[in-house]
Parts: sequence; C-alpha cells; structure tokens
Amino acid sequence: MATMESLIVTVNRIQRACTVLGDHGGDTNLPTLWEALPSVVVVGGQSSGKSSVLESIVGRDFLPRGSGIVTRRPLVLQLHKTERGLQEYGEFLHLPKKKFTDFSMVRKEIQDETDRMTGKSKQISPVPIHLSIYSPNVVNLTLIDLPGLTKVAVEGQPESIVQDIESMVRSYVEKPNCIILAITPANQDIATSDAIKLSREVDPTGERTFGVLTKLDLMDKGTNAIDVLEGRAYPLQHPWVGIVNRSQADIKKNVDMIASRWKEREFFASSPDYGHLASKMGSEYLAKVLSKHLESVIRARLPGITSLINKSLEELEAELSHLGRSVAVDAGAQLYTILELCRAFDRIFKEHLDGGRPGGDR
Ligand code: GDP
Ligand code: NA
Ligand code: MG
Repeated sequence: MATMESLIVTVNRIQRACTVLGDHGGDTNLPTLWEALPSVVVVGGQSSGKSSVLESIVGRDFLPRGSGIVTRRPLVLQLHKTERGLQEYGEFLHLPKKKFTDFSMVRKEIQDETDRMTGKSKQISPVPIHLSIYSPNVVNLTLIDLPGLTKVAVEGQPESIVQDIESMVRSYVEKPNCIILAITPANQDIATSDAIKLSREVDPTGERTFGVLTKLDLMDKGTNAIDVLEGRAYPLQHPWVGIVNRSQADIKKNVDMIASRWKEREFFASSPDYGHLASKMGSEYLAKVLSKHLESVIRARLPGITSLINKSLEELEAELSHLGRSVAVDAGAQLYTILELCRAFDRIFKEHLDGGRPGGDR
C-alpha cells in the first residue's frame, strides 16, 4: 500500500539524485523540483547548540561540535530510514561507494573535508558537504547544519566573515521550502537571539519556524524559561521545544547518545519547573514534531510537486533522447536514475490518491 512514508522516501531519493547530478541538472526543471521539496535547516549563534541538536535528532554521534567556530561549511545531511536490523552507515557524496559504519570516522571525514576546502584556519566556505545516513533508527529527513551567526571576526578571520556567514545562512533560510530550526540558548538573553531575529525576517508568519531552546540545564539557579516555553514571552506559530544537549564535559567524558537522551528525559520529568511540559520537550519529541510537519508540508505540496515532476519527466525524456556521445555517461546514468525515481513517485502518488483511506494512511 502506498503510504506517506514511501512518498517521503521517494522525495528523499529524488533530492539525492538531483544532488549527485549537480550541474548536469541545469537545463531541466530539477533545481526547481529540489526547491519544491522540504528540508530542515538549523540557524543560530555560534555555540548555541545547532550541531548538537542535529545529532540528537539523528540519534548518533557524528558531527564535529564544541566551543568556538567548529562548523565551517554547510553540511547537507540526508537521513534514509532502512529496514529494522540493517546496519547503520554513512556515505559522502565526495566519496561514493565508501560506507562509513564507524561514526567517529564520519566526524573525522567532515573535519578533513572542511579543512581541504578552507585550510585548518577559521575560514568558512559556502560549498556544502553532502552526507547520507542509512539507518533503521532515523526518520526520513533532509537536515542542513550551518556555521553559526556571529557578531565579530576572530583572529585569523577576514572582517567580512560576519556578513559572509549571514549571507550564507540567509541563502538557505529564505527558500520557502526550508523549515527553520531557530536555535536559541536559554542561558543568554533571548531577546537578542540572532536565530529568532533572522527567522522573523525571512518567515514573518512563522509557519515554517520552530523555536528550539537549548542549554536549559545551564540557566542560573532560581531562573527558568517557562515564559518562553509556554509561548508567552516570544510567541511563535509552532510551540517552542526545550532541549538539553550534552555539555562540553559530557563530550570529553564520551557520554553516549543513549545516556544523554536518558539524562535529558530525566531533566524534564524530574524538573519542578518543566515537569508538566515533559511530554512536549526534548530531542526525541522534536524529531517527531518535525517529521509530522514534513508530512503535512509534502501532503499540501503534492499536487505542485507532481505537476513539476510530470514536467521534469517530459524534459528528462527529451534530454535522454538527445543523450549520446555528447554527454558524459555518468550524467546520462544519473538522469536515468532521476527519471526512474520520478516515475516511481508518480506511481506511488497515484496509488496514494486512489488507494489511500480518507483522512490518512495509518
Ligand atoms: P553550534 O556551534 O551551534 O553547532 O554548537 P555545538 O553543538 O557545537 O555546541 C557548542 C557547545 O555547547 C558544546 O560544547 C556543547 O557540548 C555545548 N552544548 C550545546 N547544547 C548544550 C546544552 O543543552 N547543555 C549544555 N550543558 N551544553 C550544551
Ligand atoms: Na560550536
Ligand atoms: Mg556547529
């Protein structure tokens, strides 16, 4: 039976195929198709906890994180849900066919690949790194990790870096297909949150912004963020989600993901301030909310996406019929893959419309 999930899987595959195709897609509708498909982007100040939040959503340790400017290139992360029991692995676009089953090696490769582009400096680069993770324990999502917004250049950085980072972040979040995770640390003045400021600018109605409050465990004793989390202080369209990620000390002690999730759950469940909100707090809850939101976005966009795909189908067929000696074999193969995926999408979509029970798939 066609399910929303199989549609999301196919959408993910099309996105990936478009990525692999890269510039070759320039003559077709594929860039537009890519933009019609949703992805999730983290936005926030440096060290606000962006990479940590992404890691918890994935449920795996694999991102470089820490104090200072650690994330220096965009990371486009595609999560693919696989069948129960299969081994998890990561695969980079720049290293096709190499399966990373050791996630600490994924982290190392992200660091090395960042350095290859920027040198071991504190420079940043807008050229994204593409990573796919295949796992039974993830939801199908495309997530994008970005360098943090900053107010001043540090030694070794050009003065233009403040503006360069903002422009880079803006180029992602202003796309209407982008779901924004606006990351704000609870131990800083929330009124000056760069994440909230920028997301209000690019998404004034707030329909695609989720406010995420990190570092709740680091608030001064006797203070709490109830006014924010209950939506009074900074009302957003979607409810705020509070998070407790691993501290720097936890990272040094190699506290693993399972232990840190348990700690996070404990934090909320046992907190006199947040106990009543516990079921709507934490990384696992955030992952669920996001996946549900994504479903509803795709559902709403289905007619638009299918008409784009139908258009792309025609163009792809035309392009394939012109293929021959003039185009690289690789590009031809990729176009063919996309064509197949678009056909699959079209088929699943039709089954979904014909066979779907009214009101949903479950
Ligand atoms: P990014 O720069 O926004 O990607 O932030 P990172 O995820 O790299 O985190 C920056 C630092 O803050 C790291 O040392 C994390 O361990 C720490 N950190 C992030 N979130 C939390 C949190 O909720 N609680 C605590 N105690 N530390 C956190
Ligand atoms: Na950081
Ligand atoms: Mg980071």
